[in-house]
Amino acid sequence: MAEKSFKYVIVGGGVSAGYAAREFAKQGVKSGELAIISKEAVAPYERPALSKAYLFPEGTARLPGFHVCVGSGGERLLPEWYTEKGISLILNTEIVKADLASKTLISAAGETFKYQILIVATGSTVIRLTDFGVEGADAKNIFYLREIDDANKLVEAIKAKKNGKALIVGGGYIGLELSAALRMNNIDVCMVYPEPWCMPRLFTAGIASFYESYYANKGIDIIKGTVAVGFGKNENGEVVDVKLKDGRVIEADIVVVGVGGRPLTTLVKSQVEEEKGGIKTDAFFKTSSPDVYAVGDVATFPLKLFNELRRVEHVDHARKSAEQAVKAIFASEQGTSIEEYDYLPYFYSRAFDLSWQFYGDNVDGKVVGVFLESGTPEENKAIAKLARVQPLVDNLDRLAAEGLAFAANI
Ligand code: FDA
Ligand code: NAD
Repeated sequence: MAEKSFKYVIVGGGVSAGYAAREFAKQGVKSGELAIISKEAVAPYERPALSKAYLFPEGTARLPGFHVCVGSGGERLLPEWYTEKGISLILNTEIVKADLASKTLISAAGETFKYQILIVATGSTVIRLTDFGVEGADAKNIFYLREIDDANKLVEAIKAKKNGKALIVGGGYIGLELSAALRMNNIDVCMVYPEPWCMPRLFTAGIASFYESYYANKGIDIIKGTVAVGFGKNENGEVVDVKLKDGRVIEADIVVVGVGGRPLTTLVKSQVEEEKGGIKTDAFFKTSSPDVYAVGDVATFPLKLFNELRRVEHVDHARKSAEQAVKAIFASEQGTSIEEYDYLPYFYSRAFDLSWQFYGDNVDGKVVGVFLESGTPEENKAIAKLARVQPLVDNLDRLAAEGLAFAANI
């Protein structure tokens, strides 16, 4: 099979690939120099839409509406944009082997791609209940959500099981956003998670109790402190119920599982240094292997603000790390330098009429992270500043009493 050769190759066609492509164009990449190789069938899109408006019964989002870079208010990069810029968008193509020493990539269909500079942007994959051998976890209508194909299957199931019952496994981002989306489709929803409250890595007990009450008022049942240990099927192999560890059996004709992600580092395993489950990079997203960069979910990078190496699985970092890597590539070609990545962690979520934003870190001592539900743009700016300045808090009661006024005074 013919070999294709590019100056720059991005493996992965998700959020960071799309934002990297825009930055390549800004930096003046020449026609024919850049290729994006993606196993997905569509041009890079804003993945967050999949667990929100893509599933809504009204105001539904569909491609091409949410191709990058609309998520951050930028121009939408339609497939034609890549053609105009001379960027090769090689879709439906999974890279199964990367040999960094010879700068060669091999696809599942056996094609060979050569590059001078590689950006690994493979993102994450879902953790599956079949990975733990949960009984019946291979039943039909048990869904995971990562890519648009997964979302399409879920949309079909929502149509087929009108007014049905859904069980959501996991109380993290997917659990909370999918419970809301299914409820909005008039499906009976029950959530199950092992922790004492939802989103335990980020929410305090107090914040979680606000969201749990809100969900309960929307008619969502929440079962905490237990896990799904088995699924019953009917004669067609479709899920009919879920057995919980505490002995309860819950009826369900749709199950959505959101029990976390795993960064897709396999392609470069043992060829680059790894750290905290990701590909270790410097502040320019350069890996330990020459001419290889890693961005987005797969990168473990120096988080300057907290003076430690971190991996971040959120869209704002996917966008910004991609831009940083491309700027660094061009700077190094021109013999100039750019500033180190100085990231302020930023997470957000939306469900029902709620919409929160979080900046910073969630450990104690001083203000290191700030969480705000339904903030105005000005208020969100103020909390971002607070998270970066990290003022000492000698009196928690004063902080509680002043609330947002505290942020405004910093
Ligand atoms: P991303 O997953 O976007 O892209 C990876 C790409 O690589 C995919 O196209 C994949 O198919 C491809 N790929 C992988 N291996 C390959 C191979 N071997 N060969 C070829 N292609 C390969 N964050 C947030 O801050 N707010 C939010 O609201 C949400 N909402 C949200 C909803 C859902 C459903 C998900 C799954 C995730 C979110 N996130 C989020 C997280 C956010 O979307 C995520 O952090 C970014 O998409 C990460 O961008 P990457 O480019 O690193 O990976
Ligand atoms: P997550 O890590 O946010 O949450 C996983 C949840 O499942 C946790 O509450 C965990 O304790 C629980 N859990 C673990 N094992 C379980 C088990 N056996 N049974 C029941 N619960 C179990 O992961 P997620 O929600 O699956 O999200 C996957 C990825 O998608 C992450 O990278 C996340 O950042 C991303 N995402 C982000 C957003 C957002 O930022 N708004 C939205 C959707 C998805």
